[in-house]
Amino acid sequence: MGHGDRTALVTGGARGIGAEICRQLADRGLKVLVAARKREAAEEVCGRIGPAAVPLALDVSSAVSVAEAVNEAVGRFGAIDVLVNNAGVSLDASRTALNLDEEALHATLETNLLGAWRLAGAVVPGMVRAGYGRVVNVTSSYGSLALMDSGRHPTYRVSKTALNALTRMLAAEVAGTGVLVNAADPGWTRSGMGGPSAPRGPEEGADTPVWLATLPEGDGTTGGLFADRRPLPW
Ligand SMILES: NC(=O)c1ccc[n+]([C@@H]2O[C@H](COP(=O)([O-])OP(=O)(O)OC[C@H]3O[C@@H](n4cnc5c(N)ncnc54)[C@H](OP(=O)(O)O)[C@@H]3O)[C@@H](O)[C@H]2O)c1
Repeated sequence: MGHGDRTALVTGGARGIGAEICRQLADRGLKVLVAARKREAAEEVCGRIGPAAVPLALDVSSAVSVAEAVNEAVGRFGAIDVLVNNAGVSLDASRTALNLDEEALHATLETNLLGAWRLAGAVVPGMVRAGYGRVVNVTSSYGSLALMDSGRHPTYRVSKTALNALTRMLAAEVAGTGVLVNAADPGWTRSGMGGPSAPRGPEEGADTPVWLATLPEGDGTTGGLFADRRPLPW
């Protein structure tokens, strides 16, 4: 089966790196479910991408919304072959580990960790049954324990470290089934989150997630963390 027969779901697909991931996946011939909290925002992106892109209303912080969106997607397209957990928030840039904002911690984990976990729970069992799947968790070098040299952005860092752990667990749990699970660091990229002075454009930021989302049949790359298509220390 070529990419043209595959369906991808991208969370946070209406702007930033997620919108560019959607565009690049559609360019490679996949049908792309552009998932966004506001359906109108997703519709706008789909209008720009073309008929391969389909809007989907999805708030990853709500278990009900995840269940409804996945039901709708599977009902309309039969299967989700590729899941890109891209939706993310960064709520405590001005904080440090010793200056914790507990509310921000809960809200960040709800989206960055639980959102991805809920989607995986709703989508990966179908991939395992189908014997094919690609899961990409969009993480950050800020979540790398090996590179953890600062207490800044504490809840964001912890959420991405936990997302990395989820990546390892899922990869181990589905090993040998044809489902590959990896984590991608897009690098510091211009977006709502990255701000205007980041050195990378969305095209560059989306490259590694898209590469992992389209690993060819028979590729054994799983349980890894990558930046610029190269391994990054956990
Ligand atoms: N930019 C960087 O420098 C950088 C570096 C490393 C990692 N990352 C990661 O890359 C990913 C994309 O970030 P970005 O830079 O493109 O940031 P962004 O421009 O701020 O976009 C964030 C996206 O996440 C979505 N989102 C947030 N909460 C959501 C929820 N509860 N349900 C569904 N969607 C939700 C947003 O949707 P709405 O439009 O509905 O708000 C938006 O589409 C994130 O996981 C981020 O942590 C970014």
